[in-house]
Amino acid sequence: MDGHPDVAAFAERIGHADAVIVITPEYNHSFPGPLKTAIDAVRDQWRGKAVGFVSYGGMSGGLRAVEALRVVFAELHTVTVRDTVSLHNPWGPAADPEAEYPDHAAGRALHTMTRQLLWWASALRVARRGEPYPG
Ligand SMILES: Cc1cc2nc3c(=O)[nH]c(=O)nc-3n(C[C@H](O)[C@H](O)[C@H](O)COP(=O)(O)O)c2cc1C
Repeated sequence: MDGHPDVAAFAERIGHADAVIVITPEYNHSFPGPLKTAIDAVRDQWRGKAVGFVSYGGMSGGLRAVEALRVVFAELHTVTVRDTVSLHNPWGPAADPEAEYPDHAAGRALHTMTRQLLWWASALRVARRGEPYPG
């Protein structure tokens, strides 16, 4: 898979990024296999980057998938931000065109998460430019 042009393009994109937002559903209390395949297709480009999460699922809103992803991203030398955006049962209200969704709580969560992500992204960018990450 390493030599596939899509993988090279994805790795290059992660390499240019200061921060990445990962959007994940939850399947059987974790994140889906294809997402793991994509994460694993990139290696050094993840190092010293900031990662935030948006998740969705049933009542848990994909939070268990996010916690499982934190372990993976720690192994890849990234910094995952504490706050996340979590959407529970989004297919319910979303089916109603009159409903307001994402709701204000989700909007506030997105604001907090992106502020934390930007803070880490700029700090890590300065650090990476100062000296190579010791990984
Ligand atoms: C086999 C299977 C397992 C699932 N497990 C969970 C789960 O553990 N927690 C949860 O919140 N939702 C669970 N769901 C609901 C999915 O998160 C939901 O269907 C979601 O919309 C899937 O996202 P996708 O269609 O973008 O892949 C499960 C769905 C399926 C089909």
